Amino acid sequence: SNAEIGLIGLGTMGAALALNIADNGFDIAVWNRTSTVTKDFHANAGELADKITPTETLEELVAAIAEPRAIILMVPAGQPVDDQIAALRPLLGENDLIIDAGNANFHDTNRRAEEAGDLPFLGIGVSGGEEGARFGPSIMGGGKREYWDRVAHILTAISAKHEDTACATWMGEGGAGHFVKAVHNGIEYADMQMIAEVYGIMRDGLGMDNAAISDTFAKWDKGPLKSYLIEISGKVAGAIDPKTGAPMLDIIVDAAGQKGTGRWTVIEAQLLAAPIPAIEAAVVARNLSSQLEARAAGEDLFGTAPRQLPHDALSLDTLEQALMAGKILCYAQGFDMITKASEEFGWALPLPAIAQVWREGCIIRSDMLDDMSTALAEDENRNLMFAPTFADKLKSNHDALRQVVAQGALHGIALPALSSGLTYFDAMRTARGTANMIQGQRDFFGAHGFARTDGGSGHHGPWGNN
Ligand code: 6PG
Repeated sequence: SNAEIGLIGLGTMGAALALNIADNGFDIAVWNRTSTVTKDFHANAGELADKITPTETLEELVAAIAEPRAIILMVPAGQPVDDQIAALRPLLGENDLIIDAGNANFHDTNRRAEEAGDLPFLGIGVSGGEEGARFGPSIMGGGKREYWDRVAHILTAISAKHEDTACATWMGEGGAGHFVKAVHNGIEYADMQMIAEVYGIMRDGLGMDNAAISDTFAKWDKGPLKSYLIEISGKVAGAIDPKTGAPMLDIIVDAAGQKGTGRWTVIEAQLLAAPIPAIEAAVVARNLSSQLEARAAGEDLFGTAPRQLPHDALSLDTLEQALMAGKILCYAQGFDMITKASEEFGWALPLPAIAQVWREGCIIRSDMLDDMSTALAEDENRNLMFAPTFADKLKSNHDALRQVVAQGALHGIALPALSSGLTYFDAMRTARGTANMIQGQRDFFGAHGFARTDGGSGHHGPWGNN
């Protein structure tokens, strides 16, 4: 019994994480429900095999780990986590720590932390896909600080590093880590959607081929948009299907899947009354993308929009600037939601540190997060769009966003996330909006009362019906 840590669930992410842990010099014991998976995993671990103890039963796993034990669960989110905890807890001592490192809904993590009572439990969000898990993910921890401290040396060792800072941070109690991971995924959805929309403009509006689109993303990846998602979008656009020799992108069905994290973010944002329209638009766009038959019927019925833009209507520089503005607005919304949740749930979520944890390792890693971290360190409660660095960027780029959204609207190219971003920007710079009309209507039909600009609340209008 001398493994420093255990891991349950050798799927893609679990296997990669276990190898990463072993690679960083920690002895690890592993177990998988199907033991052939465990055996194969160990047999293929190469020189890391010495650091890995494969086990065939949960009892064997528990016996292989030094006390007080720490065991990472990498099983599918939802019921499987509860089932695994139920099977494991009775075999553990009261000081042994269970760490759920899957993509749990943070409400489940809150509940599990509560159910655990005095028994140690952590819920940690892990981002970065298989590559990240293997060579350095971004880790967002949640649960009691003392439990985090027990395993922090392992989690920081295996995490991504930005310069010398480890991208592994304790976010707060209970489900705080999984909450931050959910918002990460919401931002991920919006970032991906905005890139997909810009791809649509290049493909349908500008008539560019995949190679030219790939080159454009590759060029942007050397500028202010530099990020993992821009980098891989260039690679995706440039790939060739080995089966047909055609561009891979042209063969992929345009219906996007989702496992739920982006949707959870949007549901939670509604409950918090936190406006995150670009993220909502991205989730809606995925839902809508699945309606393949209806969209085909729509094209038959209404005809194809003349998507080709007039010559010189938009330059690639304008597209790049529009994407920058959109991206800033989407992150501003995500961080604003984190601020609201932090107050609502009594967490003290460390906003500048969250930007740093996302700086490397995770899917939304990008250069822009450096400035975001700095801006949030100046004032955590200020919406990022008002931080001087980003305000300046928005001042110089929002017109490009406007031109892109306008061209999309004129030529029938749907741009849900970019246009939501623009609408958010315009709404956020309109001191006197139009909710006075809503309040008038509410008072008219329901005597709900309104506040007057010259003072006081609970006033009623001269509607003559109440
Ligand atoms: C990450 C990703 C990851 C995500 C899956 C699929 O940060 O590594 O966010 O955790 O869950 O890639 O997500 P969807 O199926 O919802 O697109």
